[in-house]
Amino acid sequence: MKKETKYWKIDKIKDDHKIAMEEAAQLIKDQEVVAFPTETVYGLGADATNEQAVAKIFVAKGRPSDNPLIVHVADEHQIEQYVTSIPDIARNLIKAFMPGPLTIILKSNGKIAKNVTAGLDTVAVRIPDHPIALELLRSANLPLAAPSANVSGKPSPTKADHVFHDLNGKIAGIVDGGATGVGLESTVIDCTSEIPVILRPGGITIEDLKQVIGEVMLDPALTKTEDQPKAPGMKYNHYQPDAPLWLINGDANFFQDQINQLVEAGKKVGVMGSVELKSEIQAKMIISCGTRQDLKDIAIHLYDTLRAFKQTDVDIILCETFVETGVGQAIMNRLNKAATRKITQD
Ligand code: TXA
Ligand code: MG
Repeated sequence: MKKETKYWKIDKIKDDHKIAMEEAAQLIKDQEVVAFPTETVYGLGADATNEQAVAKIFVAKGRPSDNPLIVHVADEHQIEQYVTSIPDIARNLIKAFMPGPLTIILKSNGKIAKNVTAGLDTVAVRIPDHPIALELLRSANLPLAAPSANVSGKPSPTKADHVFHDLNGKIAGIVDGGATGVGLESTVIDCTSEIPVILRPGGITIEDLKQVIGEVMLDPALTKTEDQPKAPGMKYNHYQPDAPLWLINGDANFFQDQINQLVEAGKKVGVMGSVELKSEIQAKMIISCGTRQDLKDIAIHLYDTLRAFKQTDVDIILCETFVETGVGQAIMNRLNKAATRKITQD
């Protein structure tokens, strides 16, 4: 059944936008789902204490029900209301990185709806660093369960247009606050073990985390493909553009060879990569996602670029690989998941 999706365009929260924010908050209180910007990607929010409201998120996205959601709150005090306790390490993380692109997993006290945590005894929480997200949280005065506001399997939305494309007619509203900042989702860190474990690399890097809490582990599933990841969502296909994506790990000559072979075989090839790659190779369709000199720039444009191929008729997308330092780790995590094949130069 098609729904009417309300759309509010908001540049900055000025007085004339307060009404829009109140309307959006009222829909949330009425157990509807509303998409809103955060500093990472757009989220699809519903009252995290209400099972019926949360169920609508899973339906709209086509999301598997065993994949738990992140609970968004406005401040540390609100985190305390949904967990059994906050260990010192988690307190330090909250102090250093929240509001910001970090999600911490803590033991749940059971006050969050069961379908948010997919039956786990833990809950993922974060405080988004975005004025619109914070305003919505305060106006609704509720914790918001919010996954990325895309159809499951597609790249996460970094612009309201992306949300509109995927979810118009399926959700109650979209708050358009322009492009998001970080471009990739939050880092998810499990604080229920003695040494915290990174389940998903993201906006806050391992280097940043180590500076604050010292020892941090990486979920082994992030580096090996055989292991079952601890964040249930990490096992699904993700971030996939409309044409198959192949990752090409090699120099510019090697990249050019791959293009040529496919073109000779009659394929329409699209290339995704840095401005540097664009200047080194030749192809009919190249979309650049930033400069190798600044991985944060690549992160900001990554999903938008993956989606940009939708407007083309390419059969296949070839993409370069990036160094896995800083936010490069999160970039390569997403690209590895989006890719159907990887070709490495000998
Ligand atoms: O930046 C973000 O985190 C965005 C914005 C909207 O806040 N949200 C986001 O949500 O990326 P989503 O649902 O697309 O990803 C949540 C991830 C999934 O991999 C999920 O499995 C994991 O967090 N997760 C949630 N609760 C968990 C829990 N209790 N234990 C382990 N992993 C959990
Ligand atoms: Mg997602």
